[in-house]
Parts: sequence; structure tokens; C-alpha cells
Amino acid sequence: MKPLRQSPTDPAFVQNPYPFYAAARARGPLHPWADYAMPAAFSHAAVHALLRDRRFGREVPPELARPVPDHLAPFMAVEAHSMLEAEPPRHTRLRSLVLRAFTSRAIAALEPGIAALCHQLIDTFPAGDFDLLDAYCTQVPVLTIARLLGVPQDMAPHLLRWSHAMVAVYQAAHTRADEEAASLAASDFSTFLRAYIDQRRNSPADDLITRLIAAEEAGEKLSTDELVTTCILLLNAGHEATVHALGNGVKTLLEQGTDPAVLAPDAIAGTVEEILRYDPPLHMFTRYAYEEVTAYGHTFKRGDQVALLLGAANRDPDIWPDPDRFDPARPVQTNAGFGGGLHFCVGAPLARLEMQIALPILFARCPDLTLSEPPRYSDTYHFHGLTRLMVRAKP
Ligand code: HEM
Repeated sequence: MKPLRQSPTDPAFVQNPYPFYAAARARGPLHPWADYAMPAAFSHAAVHALLRDRRFGREVPPELARPVPDHLAPFMAVEAHSMLEAEPPRHTRLRSLVLRAFTSRAIAALEPGIAALCHQLIDTFPAGDFDLLDAYCTQVPVLTIARLLGVPQDMAPHLLRWSHAMVAVYQAAHTRADEEAASLAASDFSTFLRAYIDQRRNSPADDLITRLIAAEEAGEKLSTDELVTTCILLLNAGHEATVHALGNGVKTLLEQGTDPAVLAPDAIAGTVEEILRYDPPLHMFTRYAYEEVTAYGHTFKRGDQVALLLGAANRDPDIWPDPDRFDPARPVQTNAGFGGGLHFCVGAPLARLEMQIALPILFARCPDLTLSEPPRYSDTYHFHGLTRLMVRAKP
């Protein structure tokens, strides 16, 4: 198979990766991608199947683990306890303890608070042009996840700073300085959480941190290190993607001049699914093969990696006719935006709830919302989110 060549930092690709995905998919479901030095799956069927194939996983096979350089040690110390980097049985244990605390009741209980928060944020929108990504799309998820965990709201600027520094090392273009910054953030974040968890042990509250500690103390054992990592994972994953799901969604709705009827109570769930299908914020995840596997014409050896292109799967015409058309009325078919299989996003119900609340309130309160400059995506692949979203809310 002739390898595909496409730099993930090429400006045209960053702004619109979908033509590359379509051309790749038209040639077949899986191709070597030279720039990542691994095969990549582009069709919905291949992405769906490989996410669920237990012969592949996220955890690095032990024989491939390399010594951690000193400057990355604090970052890797946090990663070492993350469910996102583990496979069963470690993954099962970590995830089931989190799901015990992260209940649908706890999420549903957030609804009135999210709605009130949206209104408060809109009350402070300035006259003239401003960045909606900063003023709204970021604030809703970061304040919601902080409230859910029980972290004080005034920590939000620190949470954002730590999280941005940590996730920067997942980007295709990252430097040694980014790695050092990620380690510093990981160690400051851990220090804060260790102290905060201690405080909660002494004075329990009605929040997720307390429930995670209780899950630990009921004999089910989340170690303190696991507790710290799990809180960091939830706090970071709890806003990074949702910010851009909201930003990409507002951009699409405004650019397409979408009828506000799609935000009505009976339509909003379908509209949110279409936003997450049409322009998802996370485009690619990788897996290691744990044994020799032949799939889609490629033979993987143990330790080989494969890239799963969620953003490409979501535009597969075999599943969604005319996939490049944004159509909130199309029948909902589960898209790949939240992944699938064992690592399927823990926060999907929360992210959907936030979007289903934040978008209708925004457009109802700001019927004159307009873009004041063409939005541009950041050079941060595999993330696919805007740098800023300049709008005008009042005529
Ligand atoms: C629209 C917003 C979101 C998107 C598009 C998204 C997407 C994803 C994806 C694709 C994965 C799987 C990665 C893989 O398979 O390699 C994932 C995992 C995860 N997400 Fe999300 N996510 C979002 C919001 C959230 C929120 C709000 C939270 C937390 C409150 C969260 C917590 C997690 C966690 C903990 C995992 C790891 C699950 C595991 O390893 O078993 N996410 N997310």
C-alpha cells in the first residue's frame, strides 16, 4: 500500500482536514500514514471495529516502555495512574470506581446550576466584539467540572493553565519546553489536589472528590496517587474537549445560518449529535497491537500502533448520506466523537447535557449573535478547536 503523506501541521489541513480524510477513505479503510509512521483507519467500520478489538489497547506494552527522562518524570508519574493509559484489569478497577461516583443522578443534578451559570455569563457579555470561546464556551465546562468535583470556582484559572500545559504534549507539534511546562503543571496540580483531598477526608462534602474518597475507603481502594490522577483526568478531560465542541458548534450554527428551531427542546439532542458528528473536537487516538493481527489488509506485529481517525469516521458516506452537509434533522446514528469500546468517554452524558443547555440559552438570549471575523482553527492536531471565536452579541 502506498503510504499517505499529510503533515498534521500543514495550515490547509489544520483549517479543514476533511478533504484529506475523504480522499484517504475513498482509497480504502486503512492506509499507512507516513507522517505518523503507522497505519491509520479512516472508514467508520474500521474505526468502530478497531476501537472494540481487544487485541489492541492504549497501554504501552511493557517491552516497549522506555526509561522516562528526568524532565518528564512528574508528568509521567501522573499518567502512570490514569485509566486512559491502562487496560484491564487496572482499567476495569479504576473506571468502575469512577463510575460509582460519577452517577447519572449526580450529572442530572447539575442541570439547573448549568442553566443559571449560562445566564450569568451572558449577563456579562460586553457590547461590541468579544471572544465567545473565552467568555462562554470555556467558562461553562470548566466551572461545571470544578463544581462537580467540589473544587472552588476561583481555582478555574489555575485549572485551565495546568490543563492546557499538560495536554499540549499530546499535540503533533510539541517541544522540549512544552514537556517541561507539562511536568511543572502536573506537579503543581498534584500538590494542590493532595492537600485538597486531605481537607475533604477531614470534612466530607456532597461532591465527587468526597465520593471518590469514600469509594476508596469502603475497601475498594483508590490509592491517594490514583485519586490525584483521577481528579486531574476528570478536571482536564472535563473541559478541554467540551470547550471546543461548543465553539465548533456555535461556529457551524452561525456560518450555516441554521434555523433556531433546531435548538428547540424536541430538536436539541439531535442537533448536538450532529454538531459532534460534523466537527468533533478530538480527531485521532492511537492503539497498540498486543498480538499479531491481520486487519484491513495490514498485518500488525505486537507493539505496532494504529491511528483511529474519529473525525474521518464521522464523515463516512456509508453511514451518513451527504456527510459534508450539516443537517441537524438527520436520523441520529452513534458517531465516533466520544470513541467506543472500553475507553468510551466517561463524560459523554455530561458533555451532551452542557451542550444541550448552553446552546439554546445562548441563541435565545442573543438572537442577534453574529461572527465578527472568520474563525480559525488552532495548529494543535489531534485537537480540532478554534483559536478564538470573535462575535458580536448585541446589534
Ligand atoms: C464533547 C466533549 C468530549 C469529547 C468529544 C470527548 C471525547 C473522548 C474520547 C474520544 C475518549 C476516548 C479516547 C480513546 O478511546 O482513546 C474520551 C475518554 C474519556 N473522557 Fe471524554 N470527551 C468529552 C468530554 C468529557 C468530559 C466532560 C469528561 C469528564 C467529566 C470526560 C472524561 C473522559 C475520561 C475520564 C475518559 C477516559 C475513559 C477511559 O479511559 O476509560 N470527557 N473522551
